[in-house]
Amino acid sequence: MPNFDVKDIKQAEGGRLRIDWAEREMPVLRQIKERFAKEQPLKGMRISACLHVTTETANLMKTLQAGGADVVLTASNPLSTQDDVAASLVSHEEIPVYAIKGEENTTYYKHIHAALDHKPHFTMDDGADLVSVLHKERRDLLSGVLAGTEETTTGVIRLHAMAADKALKYPIIAINDALTKHFFDNRYGTGQSTLDGIIRATNVLLAGKVFVVAGYGWCGRGLASRARGMGSDVVVTEVDPMKALEAVMDGYRVMPMIEAARIGDIFVTLTGDINVLDEHHFAVMKDGAIVANSGHFNVEINLPGLEKMSTSKRLVRPYVDEYMKKDGRRIYVLGEGRLINLASAEGHPASVMDMSFANQALSLEYLVKNADKLEKRVYSVPTEIDQNIAKLKLAAMGISVDELTPQQVKYLASWEEGT
Ligand SMILES: NC(=O)c1ccc[n+]([C@@H]2O[C@H](COP(=O)([O-])OP(=O)(O)OC[C@H]3O[C@@H](n4cnc5c(N)ncnc54)[C@H](O)[C@@H]3O)[C@@H](O)[C@H]2O)c1
Repeated sequence: MPNFDVKDIKQAEGGRLRIDWAEREMPVLRQIKERFAKEQPLKGMRISACLHVTTETANLMKTLQAGGADVVLTASNPLSTQDDVAASLVSHEEIPVYAIKGEENTTYYKHIHAALDHKPHFTMDDGADLVSVLHKERRDLLSGVLAGTEETTTGVIRLHAMAADKALKYPIIAINDALTKHFFDNRYGTGQSTLDGIIRATNVLLAGKVFVVAGYGWCGRGLASRARGMGSDVVVTEVDPMKALEAVMDGYRVMPMIEAARIGDIFVTLTGDINVLDEHHFAVMKDGAIVANSGHFNVEINLPGLEKMSTSKRLVRPYVDEYMKKDGRRIYVLGEGRLINLASAEGHPASVMDMSFANQALSLEYLVKNADKLEKRVYSVPTEIDQNIAKLKLAAMGISVDELTPQQVKYLASWEEGT
């Protein structure tokens, strides 16, 4: 394979404009990039990144390159690539990119292999597909890998499973565990961009609709509150009693999916789980129900099952497939069941990715210094990095906060004082 594979290199100019537009909203990453350019903390390091190829990711790649790294990028989902961004990274930044929006699964994996051909010292993953291929099919490269980072909840779960099996061959920092990542990216980023994806794909009015949110984790909480803000009647489904109770106290109706399936107009899965919407749910859905997924993999909606139950399937708008069931009722599936915020919209707004990717850049700098002292397991982002990003973000927003007085420091550390 040549040293890039993008849809159309002529789209580069448009991509550059959008990358610059995103950078305006990424002040923390911009500061890191300026410091990296002076200090060169990543000099000589080869990095293979497997991330959604978006304008924000482009700014992360430019930051790593400014720090002296030799970077290649492949997509972390077949439907999340922004082709103009891929073209600009190749054309303007000379960063090899292997990503084409809508690529087949075979091409997706061929691209992952191409990124691994770079013989990385560090991997940067989103969903752990790169790490998984490296450990299963490219074991010859493992001895050269020093460490890695992982962006999302689902990837972190897979890596913990690998570590528990003693299959993980190098240390990985779980970016998702940073508070400045999941508090903001998963909640506000997914919350807003999932609605954006649904609206762009369908142009439906959300007010007055029964909107079913499957999973009340970080992403689900964000989506539920935003759907309510748009006037939807929000129903939550959960398997964790604590999360279910939280959803009840937050004012939502909570019920099993089989009950929600009968009343819902729009369904969104955000669980990281499999077959959350299954055949017995499709069987009772209303005519015209819309289903979408914003969890990492396209397994949350049982599409092969729905296909079996249907007499026909046709694309009625971009990113909207109409399944005609044998009972004559129609179900509309958005974005082939892949992350809808990236399939039909542009992913998270830059302002939240500023913090997620600041964690990526600073964790990588930390790994360059410390990888040799770490074990082959999953680590959290060091607290100092997390706290520092929160401070920098507040400062960039022009917000200052109080500091503890010496008296308060003493009081909070003491146990003698009472009523
Ligand atoms: N779309 C995006 O851009 C984006 C961004 C961040 C994370 N993600 C992905 O979204 C998914 C959720 O992430 P999160 O951070 O909210 O995770 P989380 O662990 O905080 O929440 C997931 C929730 O789903 C619940 N759940 C599991 N199985 C369920 C089932 N069968 N029915 C109902 N609920 C169920 C769990 O109890 C949990 O509360 C992951 O796959 C993650 O990788 C996507």
